[in-house]
Amino acid sequence: MQIGWIQLRDFRNYRTLSWSPSPKLNVLTGPNAQGKTNLLEALGFLLTGRSFRTSHLAEVPFWGTAAVAVTGELHRLDGTVTVRRALERLENGAWRSEGAGCSWARAVAFGWHDVEILNGVPALRRNFLDGVAARLYPSHRAALVRFRQILARRNSVLQRGGADAAAQLGPWDEQFAAVGMELVDRRRRATAALQTEISRIYPCLAGECHKIELSYRCSVGEAAEPAALFAALERHRREELRRGQTIVGPHRDDVLVELDGADARVFGSRGQQRLLALALRLAELLPITEATGTSPVLLLDDALSELDPSVRDNVLREIEAAEQVFLTTPEPLPVAAGGRWAIHAGGLAAA
Ligand SMILES: Nc1ncnc2c1ncn2[C@@H]1O[C@H](COP(=O)(O)OP(=O)(O)OP(=O)(O)O)[C@@H](O)[C@H]1O
Ligand SMILES: [Mg+2]
Repeated sequence: MQIGWIQLRDFRNYRTLSWSPSPKLNVLTGPNAQGKTNLLEALGFLLTGRSFRTSHLAEVPFWGTAAVAVTGELHRLDGTVTVRRALERLENGAWRSEGAGCSWARAVAFGWHDVEILNGVPALRRNFLDGVAARLYPSHRAALVRFRQILARRNSVLQRGGADAAAQLGPWDEQFAAVGMELVDRRRRATAALQTEISRIYPCLAGECHKIELSYRCSVGEAAEPAALFAALERHRREELRRGQTIVGPHRDDVLVELDGADARVFGSRGQQRLLALALRLAELLPITEATGTSPVLLLDDALSELDPSVRDNVLREIEAAEQVFLTTPEPLPVAAGGRWAIHAGGLAAA
């Protein structure tokens, strides 16, 4: 799929912008703090109605304004859709996101903070995997919201304690096990889809042979049935009541990333971790294309920094195969195809 054109009003440091990008590679260049990442964020917002940078919508409107509008046209082989999105400030000061999306629009975004998928806490790997699963299986996000509600209810019963706590947990446990294993199943499938692709992509980017192994580490081992999670809750009941929190379930799971048999989190160099993070994002492209029937838009923020010149060339070669790509860099790049754009103070011009 491709973004044919986009218009912004009061999105971050863009007062107004009207832009028709190249259908292939777009290189966005400019000094620091001019609006390169903001523009990627706006493209992602058009496609998904979300920011890949923040969950606080109030950060997005140009300072002091009461509304944001993002409109654009999306193309794929069998049609064109105009998408209109808006953020509006309510009387109580909260921000509301408005507008209908497009069922096949997907964005895969990479930013410098993605290295934390490799070297950060397990919650960041779970979030990453939930993002992939949500792009592959649209019901995943709703199940995740439901799971978090059940987890919060269960935790409040555990915190209150008391003689009837075990009886009160009963109905929550059943739902927790059912929705929890639904999440685990999709996360495992997402991991398997990424595994196939990253095994090819990482060696291509690194320019040498490497073995990458992704394994989903689940608190109920290999089990796939809700009954296994239900039984684990029963086994840990006394400990959970003592600690006042749920200690087994998908909110405690992790993904192990091994590079040539060693845990990349512990033994990977910073460059390797960064390249693995980029490879994980690129590994999403094919599974998403197969699931939605059209390839996602790729938003790469500063994806080439800290990489060797030969690895940079490999990355550029790899992304040539993608459909529409937006790549920010502080310095101009010697790329032949696509569009080159200069970003300055919330404005854009052909470079
Ligand atoms: N809501 C907002 N309203 C107005 N300006 C904002 C808002 N949010 C951020 N900015 C400003 O936008 C500017 C550009 O930010 P952006 O992160 O896009 O820069 P960049 O070009 O990616 O820079 P770098 O090369 O350092 O990554 C910053 O100066 C920031 O203060
Ligand atoms: Mg930036």
